[in-house]
Amino acid sequence: MRIALLGAGRIGRHHGTVLADQPGVDQVIVVDVDPERAAEVAAAIGGRVALTSEEAMDAADAVVVTASTDAHAGLVRGAVERGLPTFCEKPLAFELADTAALVELIEARGAIVQVGFQRRFDPAYREARRLVDTGELGTVYLVRLIAHDHEPPPDAYIPVSGGLFRDSSIHDFDALRWVTGQEAVEVYADGSVRGFPVFERHSDVDTGAAIVRLADGTLGVLSQTRHDPLGYDIRMEIVGSRDSVAIGLGDRTPLRTLEPGTPAPVGPAWQTFPTRFERAYHDELVAFLQVASGRTTNPCSARDALEAMRLAVAADRSRREHRPVRVMET
Ligand SMILES: NC(=O)c1ccc[n+]([C@@H]2O[C@H](COP(=O)([O-])OP(=O)(O)OC[C@H]3O[C@@H](n4cnc5c(N)ncnc54)[C@H](O)[C@@H]3O)[C@@H](O)[C@H]2O)c1
Repeated sequence: MRIALLGAGRIGRHHGTVLADQPGVDQVIVVDVDPERAAEVAAAIGGRVALTSEEAMDAADAVVVTASTDAHAGLVRGAVERGLPTFCEKPLAFELADTAALVELIEARGAIVQVGFQRRFDPAYREARRLVDTGELGTVYLVRLIAHDHEPPPDAYIPVSGGLFRDSSIHDFDALRWVTGQEAVEVYADGSVRGFPVFERHSDVDTGAAIVRLADGTLGVLSQTRHDPLGYDIRMEIVGSRDSVAIGLGDRTPLRTLEPGTPAPVGPAWQTFPTRFERAYHDELVAFLQVASGRTTNPCSARDALEAMRLAVAADRSRREHRPVRVMET
């Protein structure tokens, strides 16, 4: 299979490396609006460069979109119109209306578009979903979502990111829906700039919180920061009537307990998303190759991405308007 890799930045390089290593992949064709980046990544993974995304797609059997968020919708549209199975990094589009229009096109054509919510492939998230699904957790009372980046993204990334909730919390929103099997109905969110004034210049925040009400009354409580001095801290805790469980809590959790006599974690603490979710990123791409060759069904559809985006947009609106927002208002 020949893969067009559209975007050779941080995640493009990572996904390109995984893809080039798969037995079913004959060639990775790399494109970036910055040709030097494309050349560098192609050389590193043993791929070849194309000058435009059109040229790359015309020579490919499947497409992987890892460009900046503002380019996703146009690139996915191009791939769908060519009938090519596509993996797209989250989010599917920058704006909700564009996401909805794209999902309509994808569904009308019966196209395959898998979206990169890699936590669906993380073993602990999968186990949490199973425990909820089988009833082993009992009635789910509350889900705590913790998403603390180690370091903020590069300054240039911020204006094209879509903001904290659409860029980062969208992973937690998808995980909340996926693990509980419930849709979100309302969100109240707030945000603050506590450490990095560059976020304020782009009407964004570096610290956020949200309370999400799910359809069955379960509450989700999100805490989100763009900086955590100890590392990259991604957790989910679920309190149910029969059990109480945590994802991301272990020897590598970047958190220091103040309880006397409690041993320090063995570490080293998680520092970056590619290491924290290494297996999940690998497995989602292996799954995509199987989806693209018709061997399995899509584990994360464009409609899933639309629902997560709806919640992220509602959270963003709630923060700006200082009021609870019904998800269907968006
Ligand atoms: N799933 C995850 O955990 C995860 C993690 C990081 C990034 N992402 C997503 O991946 C995307 C890229 O993020 P990144 O951190 O790699 O950003 P980045 O800025 O490092 O890389 C983006 C690359 O896309 C290129 N680009 C922009 N427009 C393009 C176009 N039209 N065609 C081809 N290339 C184009 C840029 O020149 C740049 O090299 C973002 O949408 C982001 O939300 C997802």
